[in-house]
Amino acid sequence: MVLNERITSIAPSASLEVEARAKAMAAAGEQICGFGAGEPDFDTPEHIKAAAAKALANGQTKYSPTLGIPVLRKAIVTKLQRENGLEYAPGQVLVSNGAKHSLFNLFLVLCREGDEVLIPSPYWLSYPEMARIAGAKPVDVIGKVENGYKISPADLRRAASKRTRVLVLNSPCNPSGIVYTPDELAALAEVAVERNWTIISDEVYEKIVYDGVKSVSVAGLSPEIFSRTITVNGFSKSYAMTGWRLGYAAGPQPVINAALTLQSHSTSGANTFAQYGAVAALEGPQEFIARMVAAFTERRACLYERLTAIPGIRCVRPMGAFYMLPDVSSFGVPSHVFVQRLLEREKVAVVPGESFGAPNCVRFSYACSLKTIEEGMTRFARFVRSL
Ligand SMILES: Cc1ncc(COP(=O)(O)O)c(C=O)c1O
Repeated sequence: MVLNERITSIAPSASLEVEARAKAMAAAGEQICGFGAGEPDFDTPEHIKAAAAKALANGQTKYSPTLGIPVLRKAIVTKLQRENGLEYAPGQVLVSNGAKHSLFNLFLVLCREGDEVLIPSPYWLSYPEMARIAGAKPVDVIGKVENGYKISPADLRRAASKRTRVLVLNSPCNPSGIVYTPDELAALAEVAVERNWTIISDEVYEKIVYDGVKSVSVAGLSPEIFSRTITVNGFSKSYAMTGWRLGYAAGPQPVINAALTLQSHSTSGANTFAQYGAVAALEGPQEFIARMVAAFTERRACLYERLTAIPGIRCVRPMGAFYMLPDVSSFGVPSHVFVQRLLEREKVAVVPGESFGAPNCVRFSYACSLKTIEEGMTRFARFVRSL
């Protein structure tokens, strides 16, 4: 059977693959230490579940408007204004089936055949594939470990060409955990202003930051930046709502209108009663987030200490999100082989760095228990000694 080459040429998500393999091994009775999952191991707060359950009981079981239910879009507008200093009208907000879907819409809407998309690496593994699906060419802007994985305006200029059209920014970043300062972000975004690029700012980890660091919205850095930026956010990470599949994009009206049209022919509106849960997430008590971040802080300290105690490991200390990206190149094994052997021999699941544009690294998620980190790192250290 003939298949579409745009799809057959892209790679499946390595993180979802590792996760599926680890789950299958666990189901077969293996004692897996899982560091693969990009999702908080917390349950969604009760008040959010209760709001969705109430909506369901009240018959909120019909199609939602494609844009999202008005009460949720209003809550998102208020959130973006209060927390991020961004002024959007409710019609400039499109609710989708997860931030991943919001991003997918945006890549399709913004990229033309042959356009180039600048993606700072290490990057979230879906960006390049989404660009390819849209017919565009992803271009890595390489963040070096010695610079703490951060890129500079000069790096952007070097990577740019006449065909550059979109710049993707993701701070706090999956997989490196870096968080850019407002000045650093403004300097990067200024290059986009100067060159007339559109910015996609993926802010799904904005609330998961450490040591007093603050994450800022790119669009809020200047009116010129605001006018060319689409802000993407969601509920998965901040409110432990990964399975609810709700995210959103807010930005210039023509972009949102185009994404709306696209979505109207693909998935239509997101799940109606789930959206009522999202309203409760934004408008209800927020203490849950601080508790979750406190737990991540403790796990981060433990994982970082155990990892950096291993001779030959180099690791940037993450300031946001819940991932660590140690460089394991000194062991002389390609990242995907390293990961495979680690899983086979020690039943420790991590994700190979190749798919994040970080071929020297492996990615750990520390959205797992301290016990898993302790046990997993004992196994990991033993594995590394055996190489
Ligand atoms: C950087 C980044 N953006 C977007 C997403 C997608 O999140 P959602 O669950 O809202 O689709 C993820 C999920 O892992 C992510 O890491």
